[in-house]
Amino acid sequence: MFPSLSILSLVVVLLLFIILYNIIWPSHNRTSLGRLRLPPGSMGWPYIGETLKLFTENPNSFFSNREKRYGKIFKTHILGCPCVMISSPKLAKMVLVSESHLFKPTYPLSKEKMIGPEAVFFHQGPYHTHLKKLIQSSFRPSTIKSSVSHIEDIVLRILPNWEHNHTINTLPEMKKYAFEVAMLSVFGKKLEAEIEGIKDLYQRLEKGYNSMPLDLPGTPFNKAMKARKALHEKLRRVIEKRRESGENGEGLLGTFMLSNEVQGNRKLSESQIADNIIGVIFAAHDTTATALTWLLKYLHDNPHLLNAVKREQEEIRCKRLEAKRRITWDDTRRMPLTTRVIQETLRVASILSFTYREAVEDVEMEGYLIPKGWKVLPLFRSIHYSSHFFPDPYKFDPSRFEVTPQPNTYMPFGNGAHSCPGSELAKLEMLVFIHHLTTTFRQMGSDRRRGDTIRAVSRTPRRVTNQSLPR
Ligand code: HEM
Repeated sequence: MFPSLSILSLVVVLLLFIILYNIIWPSHNRTSLGRLRLPPGSMGWPYIGETLKLFTENPNSFFSNREKRYGKIFKTHILGCPCVMISSPKLAKMVLVSESHLFKPTYPLSKEKMIGPEAVFFHQGPYHTHLKKLIQSSFRPSTIKSSVSHIEDIVLRILPNWEHNHTINTLPEMKKYAFEVAMLSVFGKKLEAEIEGIKDLYQRLEKGYNSMPLDLPGTPFNKAMKARKALHEKLRRVIEKRRESGENGEGLLGTFMLSNEVQGNRKLSESQIADNIIGVIFAAHDTTATALTWLLKYLHDNPHLLNAVKREQEEIRCKRLEAKRRITWDDTRRMPLTTRVIQETLRVASILSFTYREAVEDVEMEGYLIPKGWKVLPLFRSIHYSSHFFPDPYKFDPSRFEVTPQPNTYMPFGNGAHSCPGSELAKLEMLVFIHHLTTTFRQMGSDRRRGDTIRAVSRTPRRVTNQSLPR
């Protein structure tokens, strides 16, 4: 008797809640402009929306099933937020480029707190423009050209360790590599004593990035926030030391400090500098490490491509050994096949499947209303998998990049004002790594029983060391 009564009362309460929810929150069903409808789609259950479906279904099918049912623009409700998903290049361009003033960047509050609220990702307008100009100037080809040999040094420190291990767990190795390159780009090659401490604190902070934002003693979030505070303090000391020594130093930090000295320039506070240093390390290392991991997997899965890449790289290696020199920026510009393999990796893996924006006012799109405050998600992955723009999209086929993709259809690094300033550095890292990997190691069969991401490399008689290379 009791259990059935409680189930009945639960159902009644739930029904009442749904009715009230629709009365109190009418924007889900009706528009403030009246004449416009919301995009098609389902908002799922009150509050939880379609969150459970997104987390229990394969995310690719979640998006593609809805796209088939509703079209290139549809609504849904995820993690307590009403959202509009868009999967056409034209609409993505509208949100990210032509009408970007109507859509502000938006991130979960916990991420903003951990990275730092003054980081470039979270802003629009003059502050964002100023920061972006400085970051871009640190990562443009003419600047990163001079880092090639330092990036190579990092590769040559990491790869010889692989010789002694029968099994390599790729993602953690790639994270080590991408992290070292990020540190080099941010602080320059002359690393101060404090940098070791910064590395350690950053790694503690990183552990909390995807945790619940529960700031109670002992929670991962709480530990991460403590690490963040200490990181800020360490960065402040590095800035102070550089100032006292009269040298701004290299890397992005040097660029920020130099800009502060230029008359008429907008000045960045220490906390703005710190947030952006942490932000760039965050943006630079996981993304690149993931891309490299997929790159190795696709090469492993496509032996004919791996052989072709090896041939391309071997040719460069022979030339540079003949000339008794190390790898140069110009070498990396003469790797057309490897470059296309990287482009195809970035399409197929779509490291950032989508990005988020929030409508700053009611916006009309394709005859539908996007109400103010709703999240708008351009789905990069869906566009990259459109057979209209990329025939046979599930096939790993670098030759498709012999022809330039149609505008706004290929966005591994985003588009518009918030597009990635580190794209050239990321590609350079991959090219230098692939050069040494493919010319030093040979492929073996993979052993799926061990469940390793990649087990395709083994030692060849040729050793890689700093000494074996001409400087
Ligand atoms: C394969 C590696 C990478 C991928 C796939 C990638 C992807 C992206 C994408 C898609 C965006 C745009 C996000 C949006 O519009 O909301 C972005 C932004 C950004 N990326 Fe990257 N990124 C990579 C590597 C890097 C590196 C090496 C750096 C180092 C400088 C970097 C720094 C940034 C920054 C600072 C932003 C924010 C820009 C802004 O808000 O104006 N990324 N990245």
